[in-house]
Amino acid sequence: MIRVAVIGAGHWGPNLINNFSTSGRSEVRYVVDVDADRCAAVRERFPSVKTSSDLGVALEDDELDAVVIATPTQTHFELAHQALLAGKHVLVEKPLTDSSQTSLQLCQLAEKVGKVLMVGHVFLYNNAAQRVKRSIEEGELGRIYYLSMVRTNLGPIRVDVDAAWDLAAHDISLANFWLDSSPLSAAASGGGFINSGIADVVFATLRYPGDILVNLHASWLNPRKAREITVVGDQKMLTFDDTSAETPVRIYDKQVLAEQTHPEFVDSFSSFRMSVKEGKMEEPSIAKGEPLRNECEHFLDCIEGNAIPVSGGMEALSVVRVLEAISKSMATQGREVRVGSQ
Ligand SMILES: NC(=O)c1ccc[n+]([C@@H]2O[C@H](COP(=O)([O-])OP(=O)(O)OC[C@H]3O[C@@H](n4cnc5c(N)ncnc54)[C@H](O)[C@@H]3O)[C@@H](O)[C@H]2O)c1
Repeated sequence: MIRVAVIGAGHWGPNLINNFSTSGRSEVRYVVDVDADRCAAVRERFPSVKTSSDLGVALEDDELDAVVIATPTQTHFELAHQALLAGKHVLVEKPLTDSSQTSLQLCQLAEKVGKVLMVGHVFLYNNAAQRVKRSIEEGELGRIYYLSMVRTNLGPIRVDVDAAWDLAAHDISLANFWLDSSPLSAAASGGGFINSGIADVVFATLRYPGDILVNLHASWLNPRKAREITVVGDQKMLTFDDTSAETPVRIYDKQVLAEQTHPEFVDSFSSFRMSVKEGKMEEPSIAKGEPLRNECEHFLDCIEGNAIPVSGGMEALSVVRVLEAISKSMATQGREVRVGSQ
């Protein structure tokens, strides 16, 4: 049995407590939250769990294997650092920390102490997202031109981070995973309408190697819940709608064809005729699954030494670097900013 402490029992923490309590391979021994009411709510729902406002109580338990952190982003570094130093494996909610410098520090510490550092980029554990990765990797879509990623809803409105760090973090992790790279630059604009200085809406354009463009629209100030991703390749095109339980992925046999009509005028625009192919649309069947359950099980596999984190510290550090570039670009009226690599 892998013994776990969950830190933070607000909106998201109870989902993690539930998964690690029901896995069959793990037990939640402690829940730590600075808010006594949250601790009381946990004891009511999970009577066998010990609660505390102090992480130190859990870390002193030599039998404790892992710490799972679901607190506001600004607290991630301190809590994860403490847990790793105490020799515990760590699963921390996204984004890893609020700076690439502290994210890198955690990666280095995890390496030094030989413990798993995994980050809750839950969309990577979504079966439909895995199917999209296969389509891209196997060349079904051909050369990728661009991705459009829309993630909107009305709320929840956060005050600890802006819409990029909260919402676009998911899309950046997906784009990096699918394209197996990270962007070279970011240009972004944001608007903070509700709380000054905290963007409720962010529009960002990322440039990936190979001239691939990724456009992000992330907002918690929108009338409609949307999780809409479009991937356009030169052979086929694909949509991924995470709000659709039955058919989240659709693959369109659509493309633009260029037929050379006057081979004698090589390289001349007028020597080609463009036409569009409107082929069939396919809805691949995708096994139903619970992404958070998959994520938690993967963390346990990693602790047992049977897997390497799909969303490990280094992958999460790449996401944080992109988020930093987006923030920097927003602060400079949308200037294109290089994504850091050091
Ligand atoms: N993967 C997802 O889809 C997803 C969804 C929601 C939230 N999250 C992430 O989960 C994390 C928490 O988000 P939330 O919405 O649950 O926030 P929340 O504000 O609802 O809950 C945070 C909890 O942490 C507690 N807390 C704060 N500082 C603490 C500390 N130092 N020690 C112990 N407890 C502390 C608070 O009392 C609160 O109960 C964030 O990183 C967020 O990005 C991820």
